[in-house]
Amino acid sequence: MDDRNGWGRERPAPTGSPRNPSPSFVDQANVTDDRIHEEFDEPAGWERAADLLTWDEPYGTVLEDEDAPFYRWFTGGELNASYNCLDRHIEAGRKTHTAIRWEGKRGERETYTYQDLFVEVNELAAALGELGVGEDDVVTIYLPMIPELPIAMLACARIGAPHSVVFAGLSADALATRMDAADSEYLLTCDGYYRRGDAFNQKSKVDNARIALDHDVQTVVVDRLGDDLPHVLGDGERDYHDLCAEFTGETVEPVSRDAEDMLFLMYTSGTTGEPKGVVHSTGGYLAHVAWTSHAVLDVKPEDTYWCAADIGWITGHSYIVYGPLALGTTTVMYEGTPDYPDRDRLWEIVDRNAVDVFYTAPTAIRAFMKWGEEYPAGHDLSSLRLLGTVGEPISPRPWEWYYEHIGDEECPIVDTWWQTETGAITVSTLPGIDEMRPGAAGPALPGIDARVVDDSGTEVEPGEPGYLVLARPWPGMARTLYDGDDRFIEEYWTRFSDPEADRWWYESGDAARIDEDGYITVLGRVDDVINVSGRRLSTMEIESAIAGVDGVAEAAVVGRTSGAGDTEICAYVSTESGYDSDPTVRRSIFDNIESTIGTIARPAAVVFTPELPKTRSGKIMRRLLEDVANGEELGDTSALRNPEIVGEIQAEIGNEG
Ligand code: WT7
Repeated sequence: MDDRNGWGRERPAPTGSPRNPSPSFVDQANVTDDRIHEEFDEPAGWERAADLLTWDEPYGTVLEDEDAPFYRWFTGGELNASYNCLDRHIEAGRKTHTAIRWEGKRGERETYTYQDLFVEVNELAAALGELGVGEDDVVTIYLPMIPELPIAMLACARIGAPHSVVFAGLSADALATRMDAADSEYLLTCDGYYRRGDAFNQKSKVDNARIALDHDVQTVVVDRLGDDLPHVLGDGERDYHDLCAEFTGETVEPVSRDAEDMLFLMYTSGTTGEPKGVVHSTGGYLAHVAWTSHAVLDVKPEDTYWCAADIGWITGHSYIVYGPLALGTTTVMYEGTPDYPDRDRLWEIVDRNAVDVFYTAPTAIRAFMKWGEEYPAGHDLSSLRLLGTVGEPISPRPWEWYYEHIGDEECPIVDTWWQTETGAITVSTLPGIDEMRPGAAGPALPGIDARVVDDSGTEVEPGEPGYLVLARPWPGMARTLYDGDDRFIEEYWTRFSDPEADRWWYESGDAARIDEDGYITVLGRVDDVINVSGRRLSTMEIESAIAGVDGVAEAAVVGRTSGAGDTEICAYVSTESGYDSDPTVRRSIFDNIESTIGTIARPAAVVFTPELPKTRSGKIMRRLLEDVANGEELGDTSALRNPEIVGEIQAEIGNEG
């Protein structure tokens, strides 16, 4: 194993005692028959997922694997995602059912029935057509958690234009890089949004991004802030609501898309500085998200379901928008933060909306735990039936806290492991069947073949750490990277695959252990990706932002675990001579990270050191830096060319606190 790879931050073995789902849950669960695993032994099992959708043209083959790892699912089938999320529910007589319940940051509440959503999506789809957006043109969406965001996604889907949503908190540079990489000539954005109480200017970031792009961009701007932040529209910019008003009452035929046509593109951090454009299909993706919303999240059409994530990342795409809307349920969309105006904000929303299913991230649960049980205790949470977590491992203590204080020991918890690239949940208990083991995500879902292997690709013994791979294709999987098929192969299908033997094992980038019963405990990333508050960042990307600062010689970025169990970014920086005690360097490091990536990549600590610890071959020993950052015992440092530097760094990090 090279020095950049460990087995993630080893955590103690799960100590939580196993729990069984309550009989009252099992009685009503969507999936309760444990023969479901056998059913998915053959790819044909996934027809169950495809059957949750309405196809314009039935598919001929479930899986075509001749051109592995470029798998094709439900070939010959045609469908439209917007039709599946809207029209068919209206046709089924459910036009007045609530599709989206929006809770705004300032306490605003809006309700969109399926009919309302249909009208808005159609008007925008007509408007996009008028702007010149054609099938397969990539439309970039740079919006915060306002209803126009899912409306824009569905409008794109309706006309067969793949969307590329860029998280609203990312910087102007990040937006420009992504638009450039996708040759995207259309942008849907807004003037600004509220952050806590304040108006935050998004449009100025857009203006900067447009300056950085060499191609023309047609921009549509949602006026979110009104008089709180007046803005001026320039050349090639239209007001969203004025534009849609020109198409009042218009409808647009949903375009029949081939099952394999791209539904969307989502940029995510990889092991290099360049973000990866993950390509998702229409048929396989939609079938997989609908199926897992049904089988894992136990969503029913009559539910009020809430995934408290941001639509700017994959979790929100799959489980705020496409999964729940495909099933015709009510999806809650929350614009704010969990602690504003007070720390009971989420429980107040659960209470008032009688939320049935709630899905969030371990980092949020750790914060709730720290704030104290009095916040949930002040509300009636008895409507809850199932709880979910996603984004990082959850250790037994926060798991138990969630189980007891939010779920009242009645709601099963699903700890769902998946990734931007898997499109949908791949490892989780089935809540109506499986025992829960706090700390372990669960078994691979039916049809998913998850294995833990060593460096040479051999499966390790139960309980031993290793690399988590997926040894069989699944419908929601990424089809390629927008940057090219070569990079797709390189990133995921090289290390553990063997083309000669026609063995295609997907490399997840995570370490894990698997126990005798197939329960998987995820240990964390083993590549140069760190997971901060459930958000994925590339250490290389942060390092190059730091290295771009005048006076910086070299930088190494690692993750460290805070006392509360959160991952934080710790940056080690060596400066060029003459800059040793220059206070502007620190400032510029923060500024540069903010402008090239965004505030989410802000380090918790920047540690200056005369040199970085290196091996004799000149490689930075990041593993060691990670141990130092985590205040752990250091192993053997004899491979270092400059072992004396370690003590200095330790002293320096002590000063950082
Ligand atoms: C990485 C993927 C998929 C939605 C959110 C993040 C980590 C995700 C779990 C879990 C342990 C998890 C992994 C994975 N992760 N879910 N239940 N237990 N770790 O998507 O940004 O693509 O990040 O999140 O490290 O590789 P993403």
